[in-house]
Amino acid sequence: MNIRENFQMACKLEALGKWPIDLSIGSPDIEIPNEFYKYRDLVSLQDKTFFNTILTKDGRPILDEDGDVRITMKNPHGYGNPMGYPETRERVASDVTDMLGIDLTSDDVIMTGGAIQGIHALLSTFFRDGDSVMVMRPFFGPYLDLLKVHSLKPVIIDSTSDFDINLEDVIEKFEDGVKGIILNDPNNPTGKIYSAEIKKELATLLPLDTIYIEDTPYSQLVFEGSFVSMLHYFKNAFHVNSLSKNLAVPGERLGYIAMHPDNKRAGEVAKTIQLLQVNAPINMQKIIRYMGVNHSFAYDLYKHNIDVMSECLDKHGFEFNKPEGAFYIFAKLPEGLALGEFESKMHEGYDPLFAPDGSAFGYDENYIRFALCKDTRVIDRAVSKFDRVLGK
Ligand SMILES: Cc1ncc(COP(=O)(O)O)c(C=O)c1O
Repeated sequence: MNIRENFQMACKLEALGKWPIDLSIGSPDIEIPNEFYKYRDLVSLQDKTFFNTILTKDGRPILDEDGDVRITMKNPHGYGNPMGYPETRERVASDVTDMLGIDLTSDDVIMTGGAIQGIHALLSTFFRDGDSVMVMRPFFGPYLDLLKVHSLKPVIIDSTSDFDINLEDVIEKFEDGVKGIILNDPNNPTGKIYSAEIKKELATLLPLDTIYIEDTPYSQLVFEGSFVSMLHYFKNAFHVNSLSKNLAVPGERLGYIAMHPDNKRAGEVAKTIQLLQVNAPINMQKIIRYMGVNHSFAYDLYKHNIDVMSECLDKHGFEFNKPEGAFYIFAKLPEGLALGEFESKMHEGYDPLFAPDGSAFGYDENYIRFALCKDTRVIDRAVSKFDRVLGK
């Protein structure tokens, strides 16, 4: 079963009175920090005030010629700029400059409806029907569907045995006419982070007109090593990021694309955004103007969950590399335990456990991906379930 099928099955069984342990989908099920609600309330209050009066910077109403309070006719819920609010883009540019160590201005930033919409916009802007785009296996499952929607041809290569970038294969395929690449770093499902050295080398080998889509919604969930953006090495790199994971608000749909300062193609992408979604969600943009994008609220929680689940999987004979980033463990089933048997054991009882197998990521079905972005009590229940059905 793919990720969505697992997730939907868990929801269905919950509605039927079971108590599923859902480790299928990477939607953080954790408490959102109060700060988010504080700014959401502030924005809501400002929107109401804004509709009635225009305030000076220090909060006094502006008066008209007759001395009456001037009323604005601007609906704060009207269509927005396809690039995003200037104030939000300024804040994002400043935060991304801090995060990536590259000097960006608001002209280098476009707000999107999450990372997915960012990828859509880039595919639609820079590729033509039938162009080939490379993805590296195991990959985030929806990449293939995204390419299909844009009539693009996936060229799939394997990562190395330790899930690193397979430089030789990448270069060989580019020599065969591949036009672009989507690389996810830190990686879902493997938890791998690609080193600065390998990216530097890749950048020297790629044709200069390659469109490099760096999909990085986990860039601030780094447990080992560091995340280094390809923007440092390659002018045609597009850094696609999102608030879905680090702020734990995926349903609110806000993300952004940051571009190399010498790229100057933001206007082209904005035209596509206008067609795809008109503008990114404006309420979230207003909140993020205040909150910024550099967060990793549940960092300690995810780290704890990874430790607890690693110990459990280790005990039961699964093979895996401890994730360097993101919040997943991608583990190979123990010798002698087939996928069918594992799933039927996990699905049995009042507390069925759900997690997608490797085929959901274009990979070997004997791997299981566990999404650990859940409350610690869910992970504790998963550990008990493993002990119960697989034997201590
Ligand atoms: C690698 C990767 N890219 C993109 C996304 C989608 O992110 P967003 O919610 O920002 O569209 C996800 C979500 O799980 C992901 O894991």
